[in-house]
Amino acid sequence: MKQVFIFGKPVADESFTDRVQESARLKASFEAGINTFIISPRRWGKTSLVKKVIKETEGSGIMCVFADVFKAKTPADFCELLANTVLKQTSSAFDELVVNAKRFLGRLSMSVNLAADEINPVQLQFGLNGDVQTMEELLQLPERIAEKKKVHIVICIDEFQQIAEFEDSVSFQKQLRTVWQHQENVSYCLFGSKRHMMEGLFNDETKPFYKFGDILYLKKIPFSYWNTFISGKFKASGKTISEHQIERICDSVDYHSSYVQQLSWYVYLFSDKAVSDADIEAGLEELVAQNTALFESRTENLTPVQMRFLRAVSDGVYEGFSSSGVISKYKLGSSAASVTTRKALLEKGLIYSDNNKTFLSDPVMGMWLNRP
Ligand SMILES: Nc1ncnc2c1ncn2[C@@H]1O[C@H](COP(=O)(O)OP(=O)(O)OP(=O)(O)O)[C@@H](O)[C@H]1O
Ligand SMILES: [Mg+2]
Repeated sequence: MKQVFIFGKPVADESFTDRVQESARLKASFEAGINTFIISPRRWGKTSLVKKVIKETEGSGIMCVFADVFKAKTPADFCELLANTVLKQTSSAFDELVVNAKRFLGRLSMSVNLAADEINPVQLQFGLNGDVQTMEELLQLPERIAEKKKVHIVICIDEFQQIAEFEDSVSFQKQLRTVWQHQENVSYCLFGSKRHMMEGLFNDETKPFYKFGDILYLKKIPFSYWNTFISGKFKASGKTISEHQIERICDSVDYHSSYVQQLSWYVYLFSDKAVSDADIEAGLEELVAQNTALFESRTENLTPVQMRFLRAVSDGVYEGFSSSGVISKYKLGSSAASVTTRKALLEKGLIYSDNNKTFLSDPVMGMWLNRP
């Protein structure tokens, strides 16, 4: 069966809607060489947006590199992974990759490995032992390539928050910022799935990445786009869904991009020619059922007071957690204890803060918490 709705992985083309303003702004930043951070709760569409803008800039004289550093566990891993990605994505063929590696990194000792990865089988290894000088050489690689090719290079780094987990992370952040801010022909677009950690990297004035670039906060995709998108998909398969029903889908998952597509998929699957309200209820049941094991594992180590705090947010309490009414209703202890609980949940990524209000990161978790 054709996959009508796609969720949980980056989307493109006919599975992608809106992001008109964000695409234009990101494209303008790429063209102007402005560093950008992209922030949103999980699964709202950061990776999809960046990939779309990269595609749109093809042929414009800007060279984009997309690197996912999720697997990097140390600064050396990070530098090696980034250098490999930059070499691969700026070289048109294997020969050029080898020439570039020799030309720009000739001073370093390196070995070529053939990895099991079919798409990118060549892997250069530089025998790094946390040696700052060698890492710097690798970090300078994009600037050298940009100068040589006379282009501007934009390096997009997904899962950038990983660097916060490195041992002695702040020293490495300092090194990165020092090298990157002097590069004239390279700019950076940094984003990641862990919002709280990403914000910790550049929202804190004591941290090296403070004010490193522009910040793009993703918004929710509005109803008008979802309406056209979802009704179009149903129509193309000979089914009908009303505007009111689409609104119900979007509202019930609080316009969370991935869940809108996932719920639409279940409704599509369960419905006959015309969608009924019962199909939507069944879709919601399925959505909660599909995520129950995940929610159980994400909450199993929470303290009772942390669970009660989550319940408060899922009940619609978004602020005033230090007020006596909220504290006594949800048994949050004291005002100081409530602040500590909120902080712990923010760090775990279970809640996020927007305009001084607190929300559940995952709207379906809210449904799960509210079940009798
Ligand atoms: N522009 C869009 N149009 C339609 N659906 C979208 C869009 N962006 C995201 N989605 C939905 O959200 C899902 C997740 O998208 P994506 O992986 O790009 O998000 P992300 O913010 O990078 O996630 P993570 O926080 O896990 O890194 C997609 O599979 C799709 O269902
Ligand atoms: Mg992503």
